[in-house]
Amino acid sequence: MTARLSPSRRESHVVSQPHLRTVVVLAAGEGKRMKSSLPKVLHPLLGRTLLGHVLAAAAPLGADRTVVVVGHGADQVRAHLTDVAPAATPVLQERQLGTGHAVRIALDAVPDATGTVVVINGDVPLLRPETVQALVEAHEGAAAAATVLAAEVPDPTGLGRIVRDVQGQLEQIVEERDASPQQRALREINAGIYAFDAARLREALGKLSTDNDQGEEYLTDVFALLRDAGEPVAVHCAADHVETLGCNDRVELSALRRLLRDRVNEGWMRTGVSILDPHTTWIDVTATVERDAVIDQNTQLQGATVVGEGALVGPDTTLVDTVVGAGASVVRSHAVGAEVGPEASVGPYAYLRPESRLGRKAKVGTFVETKKASIGDGSKVPHLSYVGDATIGEHSNIGAATVFVNYDGVRKHHTTIGSHARTGADNMFVAPVRVGDGAYTAAGSVITGDVPPGAMAVARGQQRNVEGWVLRKRAGTEAAEAARRAGEDAAETGGAAREGD
Ligand code: UD1
Ligand code: MG
Repeated sequence: MTARLSPSRRESHVVSQPHLRTVVVLAAGEGKRMKSSLPKVLHPLLGRTLLGHVLAAAAPLGADRTVVVVGHGADQVRAHLTDVAPAATPVLQERQLGTGHAVRIALDAVPDATGTVVVINGDVPLLRPETVQALVEAHEGAAAAATVLAAEVPDPTGLGRIVRDVQGQLEQIVEERDASPQQRALREINAGIYAFDAARLREALGKLSTDNDQGEEYLTDVFALLRDAGEPVAVHCAADHVETLGCNDRVELSALRRLLRDRVNEGWMRTGVSILDPHTTWIDVTATVERDAVIDQNTQLQGATVVGEGALVGPDTTLVDTVVGAGASVVRSHAVGAEVGPEASVGPYAYLRPESRLGRKAKVGTFVETKKASIGDGSKVPHLSYVGDATIGEHSNIGAATVFVNYDGVRKHHTTIGSHARTGADNMFVAPVRVGDGAYTAAGSVITGDVPPGAMAVARGQQRNVEGWVLRKRAGTEAAEAARRAGEDAAETGGAAREGD
């Protein structure tokens, strides 16, 4: 996955680093309610996995070390980390004995960690880097032993509640299942994102009990332990509770997807992109759209896709890892790993497969599929064609319904068409074959041999008209009757009837 920045990330700033920092991401849980063979944290959400989003939110902290606690699906999660965060250290928690246990294991893997330890649940993908930074700044600024990110939410069901004393100071964090009715009525919740002082966290983790409804070691109990020991603990409130939403099942995942979609679309619109129907436009956080681009409805921009200035994309278009040049248009099409040059035109109904490269003002038109094809500046493949394993020079025109016959059943072969060539409709280029600069080919040709520059290649049977065939062989049919009438009309006007034209 690429490191392209979404608008919100672009605005983020790197804070000063007064301390060494360690980031711990908790990702060992199974996510039972997802009902999936994929570990929960690996579910995708607009360009990153849930875990990928959390790591991206923590990245601007510039932590010295990132530890990811893995458990369920550990091999899959480790493999994913190798792709997206190779510097992160996966640490195995064989049995999920609670969030406190998970952090204890993580700290065991970094015995020399000092300064601030930031702990983030692996399932809060809408968390923004600015919020993590603000939490850490507040924590370090107050020299607190522990600071929890909290939010007021409309529905706190299932979440840990922030319990404050009469002075409004944090007293404890209590899980819903362990909470009294009064505590359950609280709507200020623990977002599952924390900053700790390493030494004091380590000490408190050693004192955790499992005396709770789930019999687990709760990380959240660290707060009451520290407070009771006279250490300063603090609450940092998230500006927008949406950022703290977790993901526990696929209904929540889809709600998060909609929220992130709106955030991303709004970000691009504010930078000067027109999004005609934001509700049906899904832009991965890894994609980039330049100013004055117009994104029409039902469009997905995925992966490392870049849409250039003033380009038009959509409606009904999916671009995956595709670069669209300035002023180009891609209409009702699907592209994967393609490059569309500036002012080029694609579709309606085109399919650009990997390594399709269109030059400036090139055209790939309706019902055209391309693959490993370089189509030079100003060259056109307007209608009903397959262009695979091909190089087309500049300002050439490929006739309608042409097939680049690239596959002999065992291997793929290449076709090269020069510049300023004009190939006829309904051609087959049986690769390997070359057509020279300025050459022509006749309609309906099956081109199996090279065509020299400037030549006209004709590779088809000669036309033969069998006069009167229908009158003799299909006598009594409507065709024969029509032919007879045409003969009479021609005789009357003195012209010759033309049959079989
Ligand atoms: C936790 C908090 C709760 C908070 C909520 C926010 C505790 C005890 N409770 O509850 O106060 O409101 O998050 O979403 O921390 N994990 C491990 N190993 C374990 C257990 C969990 O790695 O042994 C990971 C999970 O994969 C998950 C994260 O820790 O990413 C949180 O665990 P989860 O079981 O979802 O905790 P909640 O019950 O949601
Ligand atoms: Mg949870």
